[in-house]
Amino acid sequence: MTITNGAGRPLLPLLPMQGHTHGKRSAVTCHLKCADACFHPVPNESGNEYFRDIVSTAFTRRTLLLGAAAGAAAVVIAGNGPAQPASAASGLAFGVTPPTPADVDDMVVPEGFSWNPILRWGDPLFSRADSFDPNAQTAAKQARQFGYNNDYLDIIRRANGREALLVANHEYTNENIMFPPAATEAQAEEQRRVAMAAHGMSVVELSRTAAGKPWKYRVGGRLNRRITMSTPFKLTGPAAGSQLVKTVADPAGRTVLGTLGNCAGGTTPWGTVLSGEENFNGYFRSPGTSAADKRYGLADRETSRKWETIEPRFDSRNPGYANEVNRFGWIVEVDPEEPNEPPVKHTALGRFKHEGANVIVGSTGHVAAYMGDDERFDYLYKFVSHDTYQEGTSRTVRKHNKTLLTRGSLYVARFSGDSPAVEIDGTGTLPADGAFDGTGTWVPLVVDGVSQVAGFTAAEALVNVRLAADTVGATKMDRAEDVEPNPHTGAVYVACTNNTDRGKPGKEGATESNPRVNNRHGHIIELVEDGNDATSTTFQWRILLVAGDPAAADTYFAGFDKSKVSPISCPDNVAFDSQGNLWISTDGAPGTLNQCDALFKVPLDGPERGHVEQFLSVPREAETSGPVIHDEESMVYVAVQHPGEDGAWGAQHSYFPDYVAPGTLAGGKWGGPRPSIVQVWKP
Ligand code: FEO
Ligand code: CA
Ligand code: CA
Repeated sequence: MTITNGAGRPLLPLLPMQGHTHGKRSAVTCHLKCADACFHPVPNESGNEYFRDIVSTAFTRRTLLLGAAAGAAAVVIAGNGPAQPASAASGLAFGVTPPTPADVDDMVVPEGFSWNPILRWGDPLFSRADSFDPNAQTAAKQARQFGYNNDYLDIIRRANGREALLVANHEYTNENIMFPPAATEAQAEEQRRVAMAAHGMSVVELSRTAAGKPWKYRVGGRLNRRITMSTPFKLTGPAAGSQLVKTVADPAGRTVLGTLGNCAGGTTPWGTVLSGEENFNGYFRSPGTSAADKRYGLADRETSRKWETIEPRFDSRNPGYANEVNRFGWIVEVDPEEPNEPPVKHTALGRFKHEGANVIVGSTGHVAAYMGDDERFDYLYKFVSHDTYQEGTSRTVRKHNKTLLTRGSLYVARFSGDSPAVEIDGTGTLPADGAFDGTGTWVPLVVDGVSQVAGFTAAEALVNVRLAADTVGATKMDRAEDVEPNPHTGAVYVACTNNTDRGKPGKEGATESNPRVNNRHGHIIELVEDGNDATSTTFQWRILLVAGDPAAADTYFAGFDKSKVSPISCPDNVAFDSQGNLWISTDGAPGTLNQCDALFKVPLDGPERGHVEQFLSVPREAETSGPVIHDEESMVYVAVQHPGEDGAWGAQHSYFPDYVAPGTLAGGKWGGPRPSIVQVWKP
């Protein structure tokens, strides 16, 4: 196969794969990102017998087919054949890129496209005096530089087309490849503080000469902002000020310092950015004895980053800090236009391992926020606002809209695969009428500040929403990551990234909505609210994709000819283009298909529905995050997260994106991996 480098630069020689365990997630990611969640017992041991009874009576042939095939299906690296012709479907036209072998340390973009980084880890945001030198990083400098491991991304364009605001999350840090080994305890402590300052979010001004041209960022832009672990956040909603969120440093329970684990997110119709605090449990040492501690994966063990050794609040056993951990795990909202306004944490949206939140305005003007809890066998949630959205961009209107997520109703999804009994037939096609696979209910947990769950106050039901949801028969999902309504149709797409525990002894087996045991490759559900109203409490749903090697029997691409689709595994973040096509970025394909993670386009209607095509792939050991698709300008953006994550300071696995000699630093370029925001365009 030919690897097309859009930048026209020769590819570096391939490095041997080291320390990568095929067939499962990188051990480094497991440790640093998710606090080894997959090596600990699944924290959802709730019985939910009610739901199990329902599905056992509604076990369709599809479930049986997928469940039976899963164990036997061998993973075959497909393709590497000639690129297929450009898709005839609407939106951005491109020649499909074949899968990239997992050890290729490069961006691979379609023929005719170019790429370059807009912002890299360590780029100075406020003054060139803070220029990047990985051998001489300080916490003070890092707090003024672009952070590490960018995940959520948006490029919010001004009407003139030549200016934009870039907003990105910095989910976590890979200390093993960021820092030289610490020679002293003082140096180790400073590295911990640098890593802390590399978490959070960034807002950065961009400019360019004309629409469709590549962007440059502005050092010292007026709206440039870093949000870090020392930024004050306001708590809003029913749990703000409650006993459960008070600490010795904040006896009022209304102001939290910092945000962490910021994974995916969503830009609201009123122009703010929502960000999900995801794997917060990995940052806290806790007694680990309460039901809540167990349900949230909190334990009495040293954390991987040891922040508890430099700030007492990260050890819940310290006097006065038992509740600090309750102040993380929320959806945060940042107004990128207001650099001096404190960001907020919305308790009305519940506390869990928030992947992100995406908002749509319903037919009544109330807004709905869709959210996934990214944990094996955890739940899918929806918040519906009490007040209604106002059109306009004035400060008064924006101020009103920024209150919409403070008051409303929180629901959890219960899928009932009770009808109509749609099945995949022998050739893997759905019936022509496109019927739904089942129905579902949004079960209320808290309505307008009043708990609907027996035994829980509203504050308890929000802070420990997993425990509350356990009692109402919520459906256990295969790690719901990005959950996003299509702005063109209102249909909601739920990316379930994987769940290899499904069907293991003692664990729930295949269900209608999570139809594959040992679900290594994940699937995507399409959900349509009744009346197509985002505020509805009932919905219908169908499986859109069951990911994997299309040659395997246990895959499904909305009935599209499987010989024509790209192999895809572990769908994570999704986005829509201007034509309503779904774009999917992946996290995990190196471990499951031995190919680099990638970005795919899939049309959702017409004869091309289900035609998954790979657009680009990211370098070795990286995850494709934050896709933004501006197809009308032939511009695509991705956040390249954790390139070369399995390397070491003296033995790096990736040199993305600077690709200079290992260890060198010259002209702002470094010979080591730097998570970066990449723009892909047609020159
Ligand atoms: Fe941070 Fe669920 O991915
Ligand atoms: Ca993710
Ligand atoms: Ca998204």
